[in-house]
Amino acid sequence: MGSGIAHVAAAAGFSVVLVDVGDSLLEKGRATIDRNLEREVSKGKRSPEDKKAALGRLTLATDRARLSEADAVIEAVVESEPVKKELFADLDARLPARTILASNTSSISITRLAAATGRPDRFIGMHFMNPVPVMGLVEIIRGLATSDETAAVVEALARKLGKTPISCNDFPGFVSNRVLMPMINEAIETLHEGVAAREAIDGIMKLGMNHPMGPLELADFIGLDTCLSILRVLHEGFGDPKYRPSPLLVKMVDAGWLGKKTGRGFYEYAAKS
Ligand code: CAA
Repeated sequence: MGSGIAHVAAAAGFSVVLVDVGDSLLEKGRATIDRNLEREVSKGKRSPEDKKAALGRLTLATDRARLSEADAVIEAVVESEPVKKELFADLDARLPARTILASNTSSISITRLAAATGRPDRFIGMHFMNPVPVMGLVEIIRGLATSDETAAVVEALARKLGKTPISCNDFPGFVSNRVLMPMINEAIETLHEGVAAREAIDGIMKLGMNHPMGPLELADFIGLDTCLSILRVLHEGFGDPKYRPSPLLVKMVDAGWLGKKTGRGFYEYAAKS
């Protein structure tokens, strides 16, 4: 997600500092951005010069100090509340007061993350959809203390990135995953109970509902560990058994079958060359 966000920001004309924990991860991110910009060039959507200029606006860094001049920081680290809180507390101590902090979390409470900083009024959720360069939405999540000014600036930023911002309040799963994940979970239960084969479940939802991907294929695409962690946030947040993660999903994550990224989920995937 981080490389996708850096891609659209650099392409929109922003100077971008992409920060990760190691050089090999940064190189992987840069290669993904290069490949996806090239995809746009080959489709005639972007000129080769435009691609070169976008890559020229991208700086890679492992040192968070390189963010010291940022007007906004969009976090896309692992979906772990302690990891995100540690990061935001550190950024809060380093960055100028004007800098807006945004999280791309898919379900962790924006209000709780904001409370780890001294600037909860300048803290907000910017939830991009995968694949970021293709999907039109940014779900904007206002924490309890997010100011109107921060929301307005971040909505304008999303528009500059070529996206449509749609706002909601901070509640478990926000809107996107509160609606999407129960559908995916039900598809997994349908498979688990032997109601239909994987291809049949996905085929019914694709052909019958005009979804671009079936729910099992989409779960593999999102990552089964991510789906499980979002369902757990919904289950714990609402205390309602209707969000209980399917035991099949739990078992697959236990086995390390995390979907496309590990080569095996509900489907099998060839390793990327
Ligand atoms: N990066 C950049 N561009 C990509 C891409 C990628 N990873 N994958 C595909 N594209 C582009 C292609 O270049 C192509 O562009 P054009 O339309 O300009 O030709 C377009 O996307 C469609 O690609 P394809 O024709 O190759 O493939 P497709 O028709 O099968 O579409 C898809 C691929 C866009 C991923 C489509 O299947 C889709 O929309 N799937 C659903 C995705 C979705 O639901 N995402 C949200 C997941 S939930 C989430 O992200 C949030 C969360 O918290 C869990």
